[in-house]
Amino acid sequence: MTAAIIDGKQVAADMRSELKEKVARLKARGVTPGLAVILVGDDPASRSYVTAKEKACADIGMHSADNRLGAETSEAELLALIDAYNADPAIHGILVQLPLPDHIDEDKVLLAVDPDKDVDGFHPVNVGRMVVGQDAFLPCTPHGVVQLLLRSGVELSGAEVVIVGRSNIVGKPLANMLIQKSDTGNATVTVCHTRTKNIAEHTRRADIVVAAAGRPNTVTAEMVKDGAVVIDVGVNRVEDASKKKGYRLVGDVDFEGVSKKARLITPVPGGVGPMTITMLLYNTVLSAEIAICTES
Ligand code: GUN
Repeated sequence: MTAAIIDGKQVAADMRSELKEKVARLKARGVTPGLAVILVGDDPASRSYVTAKEKACADIGMHSADNRLGAETSEAELLALIDAYNADPAIHGILVQLPLPDHIDEDKVLLAVDPDKDVDGFHPVNVGRMVVGQDAFLPCTPHGVVQLLLRSGVELSGAEVVIVGRSNIVGKPLANMLIQKSDTGNATVTVCHTRTKNIAEHTRRADIVVAAAGRPNTVTAEMVKDGAVVIDVGVNRVEDASKKKGYRLVGDVDFEGVSKKARLITPVPGGVGPMTITMLLYNTVLSAEIAICTES
């Protein structure tokens, strides 16, 4: 079997045009959805993510407030900035790009963001709401994975899903979303990690494999069954002298091998990546819509 490609760019473009219409409707009611983006330090990958987020806001008519702070910024300064945005009615979402420099306590920063503006879905209040199935801002990358699956017509109800990776940003929240008793869940989920005894034994029985381990070639052809759906969340830079930047991006999946066995597969780049930013826009627009409802 040769896998069909799940085109994340196309799905993201479709969702962004839906969101653009929502933004226009909100603006007609006097509200422009606003996102505050905060980057501390100058990690090159983080810098390029943040630039892409700001551009995406502008593309659909949203307002973004850009804050690029030096690596020496103190925790107190960062917390004060977050407090100011918590109180700012023009801002509906606050995004603090992770990872933060070592001298800043990440947990403290995530707790400082008002849960009603936590469009990353990282505040423990939103995590808790998600786990018990209440309305919550869902974290962007796993929510993007769910949307990609649904919009590609993949049946989730009763599906065997194996996730490789247990991060707070992807693996743990995705597992929670997929086991919810809802139309976007009802799957049977296994989460594999660095202490799992035989990862291939799990992935081989999966209808859907999600690779989110942060390591190239984590999922290879002999680890997936014929006809599986394979979602690659990995974004790894590998040296490549033939590229202008000196590197190329690869996922966690051996794309060439696995695409000969899978039914559907996401490429890297152009798969999950464009969905993460789209779901950030989605959450910010949702937050602005909720703000209008609670005002009137
Ligand atoms: N770093 C890597 N992924 C993310 C994300 O989804 N949100 C934030 N804020 N930082 C990240």
